[in-house]
Amino acid sequence: MKGIVLSGGSGTRLYPMTRAANKQLLPVYNKPMVYYPLTTLMLAGCRDILLVVNPHDEEAYRRLFGDGRQWGLEVRYAVQPRPGGIAEVFIVGREFVGKDRVGLILGDNLFYGDSLPAVAERGARGRDAVIYAYWVSDPSAYGVVEFGSDGETPVGIVEKPKAPRSNWAITGLYFYDADVCDVAAQIPRSARGELEISDVNAWYLKERRLTVEKLGRGYAWLDTGTPSSLLRAAQFVETVEDRQGLQIGSPEEVAWRKGYIDDAGLARLIEPIRDSEYGKYLQRLLARG
Ligand code: TTP
Repeated sequence: MKGIVLSGGSGTRLYPMTRAANKQLLPVYNKPMVYYPLTTLMLAGCRDILLVVNPHDEEAYRRLFGDGRQWGLEVRYAVQPRPGGIAEVFIVGREFVGKDRVGLILGDNLFYGDSLPAVAERGARGRDAVIYAYWVSDPSAYGVVEFGSDGETPVGIVEKPKAPRSNWAITGLYFYDADVCDVAAQIPRSARGELEISDVNAWYLKERRLTVEKLGRGYAWLDTGTPSSLLRAAQFVETVEDRQGLQIGSPEEVAWRKGYIDDAGLARLIEPIRDSEYGKYLQRLLARG
């Protein structure tokens, strides 16, 4: 299964943190932000990964992920010349998608929940377009989906509405069939000059090819785009990890648990970092088996 992590953008809301460093490389508590969305795609079963990055950041991402083989993945890179909208990923990544179904996740989105892997796997194996909605107190900064009287059928999608018709925000995790590249190529740019993912989703809705799954109260969906949301996400990760002694968003752990790498593969990854807290955590996993 193919998956794309969108890791470009301008990160203006996090300025000056993002003046020299790309947003998705900033830490969320104890890991680079991009580890969290990457592991969500891994849990959905995506092993063929495309990282879409800004021109100057490719080298840093290559240092972080290499070719992905150490985690049992195949990681490739594509450069988005300038931030032209989320849906531009399907112009930049057209060759990567080819004729296959593809998952897309935003590099600044953090998902957490016991049955998230099963939900995401279902989206990965599903048909047409599958997206996720999450109830938030203020949906005006997101794409918002309106449901019909049955509470299940999506009837409208609006990007950043001034007067939202519901509290259901569309999250940054999406699964599409290969037609998505043609859809993205035909939608016009919005007033802000971007190719909007909401327009892609609205196209699938119009064609009756869109499933919107609600993520209920048992999930956390956090984004990390502002200083306070970044801090809250870090505190969330710290709180859960400290309480459970289990880490959120570790690619080494997910790769090992999913069987993408074996014990020897995990041991090799631990060796150079064995004295770090992270290395010690991975050693404990391996020792417990
Ligand atoms: P946003 O948070 O909407 O935009 P941004 O990251 O540029 O930040 P800001 O609004 O503070 O300027 O982007 C959502 C995610 O999508 C984020 O992970 C960055 C990524 N992205 C791209 O990779 N390319 C793009 O063209 C856009 C718009 C976003």
